[in-house]
Amino acid sequence: MPEKYYITTPIYYPSANFHIGHCYTTIIADAIARYKRMTGYDVFFQTGTDEHGEKIEKKAKEAGVSPKEYVDKIIEDAKDLWASLGISYDYFIRTTDKNHEVAVQKIFKKLYEQGDIYKGSYEGLYCVPCESFWTESQAVDGKCPDCGREVKMVSEEAYFFKLSKYQDQLIKFYDEHPDFILPLSRKNEMLNNFIKPGLEDLCVSRTSFKWGIPVDFDPNHVVYVWIDALTNYITSLGYPDVNNELFKKYWPADLHLVGKEIVRFHTIIWPCMLMALDLPLPHQVFGHGWLKIDGGKISKSLGNYKDPREYIKAYGVDAVRYYALREVPFGNDGNFSEEALISRTNADLANTLGNLVNRTISMAHKYFDGVTSNPKINEEIDNNLISKVTSLKEIVETKMNELKVNEAIDEIMDVLRLCNKYIDETTPWTLAKDETKKNRLATVLYNLLESIRICAILLSPFIPDTSNNILLELNTKKTDYASIEFGSLEENLQLNEPKILFNRIEIKN
Ligand code: MSP
Repeated sequence: MPEKYYITTPIYYPSANFHIGHCYTTIIADAIARYKRMTGYDVFFQTGTDEHGEKIEKKAKEAGVSPKEYVDKIIEDAKDLWASLGISYDYFIRTTDKNHEVAVQKIFKKLYEQGDIYKGSYEGLYCVPCESFWTESQAVDGKCPDCGREVKMVSEEAYFFKLSKYQDQLIKFYDEHPDFILPLSRKNEMLNNFIKPGLEDLCVSRTSFKWGIPVDFDPNHVVYVWIDALTNYITSLGYPDVNNELFKKYWPADLHLVGKEIVRFHTIIWPCMLMALDLPLPHQVFGHGWLKIDGGKISKSLGNYKDPREYIKAYGVDAVRYYALREVPFGNDGNFSEEALISRTNADLANTLGNLVNRTISMAHKYFDGVTSNPKINEEIDNNLISKVTSLKEIVETKMNELKVNEAIDEIMDVLRLCNKYIDETTPWTLAKDETKKNRLATVLYNLLESIRICAILLSPFIPDTSNNILLELNTKKTDYASIEFGSLEENLQLNEPKILFNRIEIKN
């Protein structure tokens, strides 16, 4: 039986249509999911939407529609966006799904009955756009520490989850699972800024708005954000039915991929909730950085962004995917700009990859009518290329296991650059002038085609359409991961005509 791999994105707020920042997380999750599938795992890749709360209630009111009508439209658009980006999710959860709502009510009740949730009253600073409560000391100059906007003082009857009860158990869990939070800097931030100063119990219900899952035994209250949102990762698998096949197979999650601003919820609140439910904890939470525009946050309210589909239309889906995956070292913040997207596409996809494939297949047609052979007239110069290609699979595996996605891609690009260099050094056009060098020429082209085939397979999780197009041009049956062994490309193969994979994009001034 293949090993399972359960990977999730955060569930996004459908308060407005999604922007390139949401695409960033989702593309990375998709690439990891595709990579794991390719390498033989039984993958469950989940994304979805977090649909309740005061902000959505307000937005819907402003738009003159019901909250459900409001979110339905955005979800339809989100699914269209994910389709246009080739996002291969296995399940799309909506927190308005009936089974999720019922499950959340059951979870809430269970925690209440066992004494992990109690009734009290809440007084605190609340940031409406972020749907976050802050204490006086957390607020910065009376403003939200996350978004910098005004917070308001609120006081209301509320239910609380006993986060404080699990503090020691949580610290012990961190100690025993050093890789639970990545990158490491984020783990230290959690420990020093939140856990060590002492965990405060968490407000888990609200009475001041209605757009939420009602607490069934106290219907004045709706379940407030985190119990509703975080539990999506288990309700989708059938929880609280622990005998559900999906739950038995996929829980605990292997990787929760989240933006850095919600690491706190995933590495403190979520583990404590799971401990209270007596469930195993996820293996890993990776907190990635933000994509910024002009150094600032991509903001729905500032409206400083375009619909990501405009970039897809202009440059192709793989250019957008590649940029998201390659440009920013995974974990760090990075800047998004259309100019950088264009330069990246031109340099790596049009020049390094596209030209190489085009030149090589064209030469194979010109000199051998597009038919492959490997007479193995090898020379010293081939060794470096062959050994680099041979070790590539393992190098990519190591990088992907460390979630260094941009570095994994760059390793493949390095090999493609080496192929271009190999052409410049072996000069096939010179070999073609000498009839006695025919077998050497065939060998050189075989080495190149074989390197391209292997790189195309390894690139498939990242730029699936392009990878597929290259393998179609090669017309090879050796397209799966197991066939990555130098020398597997068939001889006497009739290659297809080369097509332009990426046109160079002119930068408009
Ligand atoms: N609904 C909560 C998450 C609940 S998970 C149980 C939420 N939603 S959100 O819509 O605000 O967006 C969450 C995620 O979107 C971020 O954590 C991040 O992964 C992604 N991003 C949103 N803007 C982004 C950037 N500008 N850059 C990178 N990622 C961004 O928080």
